[in-house]
Amino acid sequence: MAWTAVILAAGKGTRMASQQPKALQKLAGRALIEHVLVTLSMSEIDDVVIIHPPETKEGFIEKIQTEIKTTFVEQKEALGTAHAVKTALPHVATENLLILLGDVPMLTKASVIKLKEELKNNQLVVLTASVEDPSGYGRIKKDQEGKPCAIIEELDCNDEQKKIKEINSGIMAFNTETAKNLIGKIEPNPKKNEYYLTDAIEIAYHEGIEATTYTTTENEVFGVNSKKDLAEAEKINRQKVTTELMDAGVTIIDPERVDVRGNLTCGKDVTIDVNAVFVGDVALGNGVTVGPFTIITDSEIGDATNVFSHSNIEGANIGSKCNIGPFARIRPETKLEEGARVGNFVETKKSVIGKGSKVNHLTYIGDAIIGRETNIGAGTITCNYDGVNKHQTVIGDNVFIGSGVELVAPIEIESGATVGAGSTISKHAPGEKLTIERAKQKTIDGWKRPTKKEEK
Ligand code: UD1
Ligand code: CA
Repeated sequence: MAWTAVILAAGKGTRMASQQPKALQKLAGRALIEHVLVTLSMSEIDDVVIIHPPETKEGFIEKIQTEIKTTFVEQKEALGTAHAVKTALPHVATENLLILLGDVPMLTKASVIKLKEELKNNQLVVLTASVEDPSGYGRIKKDQEGKPCAIIEELDCNDEQKKIKEINSGIMAFNTETAKNLIGKIEPNPKKNEYYLTDAIEIAYHEGIEATTYTTTENEVFGVNSKKDLAEAEKINRQKVTTELMDAGVTIIDPERVDVRGNLTCGKDVTIDVNAVFVGDVALGNGVTVGPFTIITDSEIGDATNVFSHSNIEGANIGSKCNIGPFARIRPETKLEEGARVGNFVETKKSVIGKGSKVNHLTYIGDAIIGRETNIGAGTITCNYDGVNKHQTVIGDNVFIGSGVELVAPIEIESGATVGAGSTISKHAPGEKLTIERAKQKTIDGWKRPTKKEEK
């Protein structure tokens, strides 16, 4: 049976106090709505309709990459969740309809599958949760047989109803014809003058339509309405991700001080110290250690490599047994071969550092290819940019570059070459020889250090 998912993301989002639509606020580095789409992409949904606020289509398209066929529909005026669904209905051609909220991002595939299953014997299924503190959510009212007979919004609850702990996640599955019938009958809520989707439940009950609930965990249906909720969602998500990592054997010094904004995969015996942040797709090999205050983005790190504190690694391919940092900046397209070392205050970009080579202190390596067992002295700079174009530096195996050397690209330093400290090298340096470029040292006799002038 074919399914359309409608994601409601067009509310005013007043409580977020932002210029951005609520569904585009970020949780764990991704827009809230992207989380929903990731779940949908795993849940056999045929197409998606996104209901967005006026004049925000571009912003949504920019954020959303999904393989499911997606239609963007503007809700001209935020007249409530039922009105949002009504706006979507002309774009729903399938027999079944799943309604999701752009501000309920942590929904799992398991629950989507469960809702789909439950709908086989019903015309309407509401995803609910039993929560400690139900404030802010709609409460599920059930009859004596345990059938849902209404959802009462917080504002409309009497004191007794406020105590109900089973809440509406906002996520529902419908038979499409049933949804069309029910939505058409919803009247505006007298207090808010908005059309509430939640009213569909009471109407369905009176019409004898088969409806049921499926209950999941509180965390999964956490609704994000404000910046405070957003921080809370980060916390819930962090707890989930770090628990999964620790269950898989990763040592995390403090699970409250690690952020994973994307996908982190780890080998055995990985250790992650405090305040490490992982962005995008990061893969750590066996025995990798990640030091405190380190940021790793879209990179692969080989077995037994140590990343020391305060290092920033992006778009890099790091081999095994490497040592990086502290305070290293590894920029995109850097490749470190086995056993390479990049030390403190070193920046690398679009470069290869060969097996066993060392770049240990205060250096810039850009657009360079460095061979094996080469030593780059402190304060070396590859001058790769002439103000217009970038040029390459090629350094062979077993080269020794002294401290404070400038290598003006394009240039080649052959294998076995030695370059004397303080040189500005702009021509080819041959192998097995010392190349040095340095003004002659002189000492001036009789020179006096200036003294401070007397004030008159
Ligand atoms: C809603 C539910 C509440 C439920 C809670 C779960 C209603 C009336 N209330 O309350 O029962 O417990 O979600 O988180 O349904 N939206 C539109 N167009 C609109 C209004 C809203 O697209 O005109 C979208 C919003 O962008 C949001 C979602 O619908 O993504 C829910 O709207 P929101 O205003 O956040 O409803 P809640 O007060 O959280
Ligand atoms: Ca909400």
